[in-house]
Amino acid sequence: MRIVVLGLGYLGATHAACMAEMGHEVLGVEVIPEKRAQLAAGEVPFYEPGLPELLKRHIDGGSLKVCGSYAEAADFGDVFFIAVGTPQKKGEYSADLKYVDAAIEELIPLLSRDVLILGKSTVPVGTTQRLSERVDELAKDVEIELAWNPEFLREGFAVEDTLHPDRVVLGAFSGGQAELICREVYAPILEAGTPFIVTDPPTAELVKTSANAFLATKISFINAIAEVCDAAGADVKAIADAIGYDARIGRRFLNAGLGFGGGCLPKDIRAFMARAGELGAAEALSFLREVDNVNMRRRTRMVELTREVCGGSLLGKRIAILGAAFKPESDDVRDSPALNVAGQIQLQGASVTVYDPKAMDNSRKLFPTLDYAESAETACDSADVVLVLTEWREFVALNPTKLAAEVRQKNIIDGRLCLDEREWVSAGWNYAS
Ligand code: UGA
Repeated sequence: MRIVVLGLGYLGATHAACMAEMGHEVLGVEVIPEKRAQLAAGEVPFYEPGLPELLKRHIDGGSLKVCGSYAEAADFGDVFFIAVGTPQKKGEYSADLKYVDAAIEELIPLLSRDVLILGKSTVPVGTTQRLSERVDELAKDVEIELAWNPEFLREGFAVEDTLHPDRVVLGAFSGGQAELICREVYAPILEAGTPFIVTDPPTAELVKTSANAFLATKISFINAIAEVCDAAGADVKAIADAIGYDARIGRRFLNAGLGFGGGCLPKDIRAFMARAGELGAAEALSFLREVDNVNMRRRTRMVELTREVCGGSLLGKRIAILGAAFKPESDDVRDSPALNVAGQIQLQGASVTVYDPKAMDNSRKLFPTLDYAESAETACDSADVVLVLTEWREFVALNPTKLAAEVRQKNIIDGRLCLDEREWVSAGWNYAS
């Protein structure tokens, strides 16, 4: 099929490359010229394992093309995916839909034949209905069907999650062709037995926001238990392991630590609360405010813990921060807990040096006043405390004996419960988590 993907960020670029991998002819539309040029040359402008190889193969093979023109896209496609960003509005909790709205406003008047538009971006419930009414106003003598097909990929596993998803969800209005067309678009995935849930648009929109709200709740649950463990002298990791054996609970997403960040979970739970409020159902989601609070408390607690380890004041101390990405296998620093902590510690008078295997450029752009080092070892040079805030394998594998030679004081804080405490303690380090 001839497929257009509008917006080539983490989601769109991955989706476009994976659609080509599934045998479709794909045209990706990216409005930022630098990004477009990189992608057209087969380069991925962010770190996503496995994507560069896939993208290059399909760009070189001709099944994936990149352009900046909606008119070209309108001529080309049978199916259009909307994969533009829906960030949090500045100073508000709700999602900013200006990019989704702009995509519809620009594309629809250019269409000269019947097509299906599938929304992938995460949107508040009710968006498909609202946009569908606008599509009908803008369409000129053509039948345009709009449906929502939310995406569940994780950064760092984006290709794997797109090619082998847990489920495909479609929210379509009755009487259309969306289900039939989706069966063709996702044929290899559905033939492999992947569950395909066909429902109405508000349900599909809510599937996505509910999934992210549940994941965020799971993380904040274990972090709330961690607070009690701190007070009671108990081991939260052992609790997560023990309760995780119960299949009803499950061990995944029960890793206590610095909490969740990134471009999705934080803004999605806030947008979900805002939307529930608009619908008069605010009370139903009031627990998400606590989920958010628990999560944000992790960051301040990490700053306090560092201050405690420094003997009560951060003034004049040298702090090494290992990890800046919001999670490993990503260079994304949007709402990164690690950088947030780094910034707070610096504001309290410490000199902070950050190292991350992949997120250095993005971190420099966001926090230009922090110091950056080219390796974990150089970041730790003369440090009073070393903080591991993103659980990159490189940090898990650090040799405590070797690192001891770099630092001024052997204080390590494990912000992701990813280090072997005994190993660090037996190498003479003061370990805190
Ligand atoms: C999340 C969801 O997992 C995806 O299913 C969803 O498609 C995506 O958002 C989205 O809406 O686009 P992602 O933001 O890539 O994916 O990252 P996650 O793997 O969910 O991690 C989110 C944050 O939670 C990270 O900061 C991670 O360090 C933290 N986390 C995760 C924990 O603190 N503890 C855990 O046990 C798991």
